[in-house]
Amino acid sequence: MATAHIRPLVAGNWKMNGLSASAAEFTEIAKGAAALKAADLMICPPATLIAAFAATARGSSLAVGGQDCHAKAAGAHTGDIAAEMLADAGATAVIVGHSERRTDHHETDAEVNAKAAAAWRAGLMAIVCVGEQRAEREAGSTLKIIGGQLDGSLPGGGNSSTPLSANLVVAYEPVWAIGTGLTPTPADVAEVHAFIRKSLTGRYGAAATGVRILYGGSVKPSNAGELLTIPDVNGALVGGASLKAADFLGIAAVYR
Ligand code: PGA
Repeated sequence: MATAHIRPLVAGNWKMNGLSASAAEFTEIAKGAAALKAADLMICPPATLIAAFAATARGSSLAVGGQDCHAKAAGAHTGDIAAEMLADAGATAVIVGHSERRTDHHETDAEVNAKAAAAWRAGLMAIVCVGEQRAEREAGSTLKIIGGQLDGSLPGGGNSSTPLSANLVVAYEPVWAIGTGLTPTPADVAEVHAFIRKSLTGRYGAAATGVRILYGGSVKPSNAGELLTIPDVNGALVGGASLKAADFLGIAAVYR
């Protein structure tokens, strides 16, 4: 079945890396983004750098996102950051449910769901992460796990004033592939992405058309060509390789 072209997104997740001196690397990425017109590019730096990076990126094609948000808009939650605060600092998106948050902070699907809804409330695109552990893949339960995470983590509805594809991105990140240099086979990636596409259509109907499904986990310039041309892979969520402008731009250049 022919599917409509979906404009890809290559998003970089800097995790807990980056100081004010990293502005030079970000500026390099913003400059390079101008030549890469076939994909949307985004960097999600630590929250401390969002405002400065958003100012640098203003007028460029590079977007800035957060890495997490609290479900509430304000209140007594020391150390947390509201989606509204990310938006106020210049972010246009936020990652929610990254496996490091699910592990380090014991975030449940219900919490991820509330965070994604908070992103929509604040006018941000929610990048919702799902992915199986190694033992789950070995046990043959990958699709069951991903299905459960999608059911629990994706809010209903959407921000009705804009299409769902502008508000929601799903990132498939096998936990065992994150930061390890290991990647699933193209056939395994294709299977999970097709499953996610079907689940999104089942949940949101026609509105799910165009929602991007990113692959994440050890994406680098040398494997991007293979991973990002798999059917239903509409871009990448890049960790380690997004810290270097040349590597990040090299990955995005697959879509030239
Ligand atoms: P990695 O991380 O590219 O360093 O494997 C991906 C991610 O966690 O988003």
